[in-house]
Amino acid sequence: MSVLHAPTIDLDRLLWRIGALAAIGDTGDGGACRLALTDDDRVGRELVAAWMDELDMRVEVDAIGNIRGTWPAEAQDPPVMMGSHIDTVRTGGILDGNLGVLAGLEVVETIAASGRSIERPLCVAVFTDEEGARYPPDMLGSLAFVGGIDLEAALGTVGIDGSVLGEELDRIGFAGAFPCPGPVPHSYVELHIEQGPVLEADGITIGAVTGVQGISWQEVVIRGQSNHAGTTPMSHRHDAGYAAGAVTTFVRDMALEMGGSQVATVGRISLIPDLVNVVANTATLTVDLRNTDGPSLAEAERRLSGFLDELAQAEGVTIETRSLAEFDPVDFDPDIVDLVERTAGALGHTVSRMPSGAGHDAQMLARVCPTGMVFVPSIAGISHNPAEATDRDDLGAGAAVLLGVVSELVGLR
Ligand code: HGY
Ligand code: MN
Ligand code: MN
Repeated sequence: MSVLHAPTIDLDRLLWRIGALAAIGDTGDGGACRLALTDDDRVGRELVAAWMDELDMRVEVDAIGNIRGTWPAEAQDPPVMMGSHIDTVRTGGILDGNLGVLAGLEVVETIAASGRSIERPLCVAVFTDEEGARYPPDMLGSLAFVGGIDLEAALGTVGIDGSVLGEELDRIGFAGAFPCPGPVPHSYVELHIEQGPVLEADGITIGAVTGVQGISWQEVVIRGQSNHAGTTPMSHRHDAGYAAGAVTTFVRDMALEMGGSQVATVGRISLIPDLVNVVANTATLTVDLRNTDGPSLAEAERRLSGFLDELAQAEGVTIETRSLAEFDPVDFDPDIVDLVERTAGALGHTVSRMPSGAGHDAQMLARVCPTGMVFVPSIAGISHNPAEATDRDDLGAGAAVLLGVVSELVGLR
């Protein structure tokens, strides 16, 4: 069936749902904050589950809190799954993750209303804790869904606020009865904002995403010696604050020197005792390293480890590291990448192939079923920031491409 005769999405209805969800955890600056398993996340989950009910979907919640809505409700065959996440970072926008979930609901509503026949069911997933901002690693819910982490270990994850994931899941009422790992879908297609500057810079509307880069997150704890900031000679200091700064500049310089797709940042730093006139005795920081090439990412990790050894020696501090996330680069299913590209072209949109710099639930689903992603541009490449935005027409184009791709995968007639 040509995509030009497919049913068409209702962009106003999609934008209305995006606005309604954005009101939950509204930060008043155009963004939203719904850290995983907080009360705002709970309210967002309840809203999306209510929409699934309204669409006569079968709603199932699994043991890590992933929500799956299936249509038709009685269907038992492996579905074509869409989805993403609705948890956000603390300075979140209103599209990251939300677009993939709500465009999935829009596709279900459009196909259901069309009266057309389909050969396999549709499913929309809301994956728990995709951001990993409260409970590392990121994509924790989809990782558990595909069996990539022991469920008890996932439930035992301690958050950056000292809370325990499983206890918070119970508290918000989303510790579901359905098993993890979950049933393998027929395929998975995720619509997401690019969260980078490439599509906008190239004047392209649709990204046919070829895969996701590798991700390495580490917590680094540096222990030195508190001392008087005024009286202690520089040669006698074991300054955890200085060492933390040295790591921050090292990873930046390393990424620039390695080039290619290597990126690095220190996103969290805390000092003890965190006082103006005391040499810090402890620094706790996080390092986020990424690269589309697995061996290069391993090289970056080796270089950082060597630097930490030298720094410990030179500054007379001890340095311990703990892995928070370690995900290899993944390539998406070539047939689905082709289908995204073909569908976008058939709908008259400019399209180009590109890797994803951000991690996504699709990175986990790619382990178990044919998986692909559709990107739409981010204005000024901004994301994880309340200013995150995408043009209305681009949102419509992305949802239309998702509909076209999924219509093909479900055998819409
Ligand atoms: O960290 C990431 O790439 C994603 O936003 N969780
Ligand atoms: Mn996301
Ligand atoms: Mn994100």
